[in-house]
Amino acid sequence: MITTVTLNAAVDKTIEIENFTPGQVNRIIKTEMEAGGKGINVSKAVNSLGGETLCTGFLGGQTGKWINSRLRNLSIASDFIWTDKDTRTNVKIVDTRTREITDINDQGEEIADIFVQKLSEKIKETAEVSSVMVFSGSIPQNISNDIYKGFVKIAKANKCKTIVDTNGSALLEAIKGVPYMIKPNIHELEDAFGVKIRNEQEIIRHCKNLLEQGIKLVVVSMGADGVILASERKILKADVIQVRVKNTVGAGDTMVAVFAYGIHQGMDIEETLGLSVAAAALTVSSGSIIHNIEEVKNMSGKVKIREIG
Ligand SMILES: Nc1ncnc2c1ncn2[C@@H]1O[C@H](COP(=O)(O)OP(=O)(O)OP(=O)(O)O)[C@@H](O)[C@H]1O
Ligand SMILES: [Mg+2]
Repeated sequence: MITTVTLNAAVDKTIEIENFTPGQVNRIIKTEMEAGGKGINVSKAVNSLGGETLCTGFLGGQTGKWINSRLRNLSIASDFIWTDKDTRTNVKIVDTRTREITDINDQGEEIADIFVQKLSEKIKETAEVSSVMVFSGSIPQNISNDIYKGFVKIAKANKCKTIVDTNGSALLEAIKGVPYMIKPNIHELEDAFGVKIRNEQEIIRHCKNLLEQGIKLVVVSMGADGVILASERKILKADVIQVRVKNTVGAGDTMVAVFAYGIHQGMDIEETLGLSVAAAALTVSSGSIIHNIEEVKNMSGKVKIREIG
């Protein structure tokens, strides 16, 4: 099973307004709600590929209940720690005339220590029955930035492979726990190391440094510039599939989902990379992270991969 951990889940609310004007009364044409948060997105994508997945992390209040029932409707198993605070709601305003999008994101409530302790226990419990655990997304404001490091260690002690997809100091700390795989985008890699990366050689150098620390797979996504994968045996570069871009949000989450799926299945690394680039292209062109595996396999024939080190 592939377990995802979301510490800062959200109800993602999309509102359509014609001619959105700040400072005035605006009338809503249409409202849509979706369960959000990076780990939840990864579980949705894994589920659509046909993988068995479980979501855990923190939920609270009516918004938390809404997310839980939404996951149930999608046939995704969940086992969250219930906190005393409402899960946040993020609002996306789409102007139907200009197509301009305005995001209003809540940073989320603080989580009391008692719930963090409970989640640690839940991580141990679920690691025992999971082949892969994914730690994705930002960390609630008051929680220590080394929380993923601790969770990675718990998972590893239970023979569970781990994927970390986060940024800044949370990523740096998680690396110290030596996860199986990390998937920073190029900006997250730069931020974590406080450097400006100028070329492919510099990316490779950083990847090798991370491999020397014991990480088995470093996947650096570079938006439309493709992706570099570094493993002990080889370093690969994949170009993107050229598509009409609808929305790039969640492309990285799709990629993480395919790697979790591939690792769980014991799939060849080059094949997994090809599928991940194909799935990400489908996400970018459709604006959805939900794709079945046959569709992804068909698309993966178009991916060009070469060895660069
Ligand atoms: N314009 C694009 N055209 C085709 N493929 C794209 C495009 N942008 C991104 N992708 C694919 O998606 C992958 C992940 O994108 P990106 O590097 O933007 O991830 P990210 O920043 O982690 O995304 P997020 O965190 O929002 O999910 C890229 O490696 C690429 O394969
Ligand atoms: Mg990302």
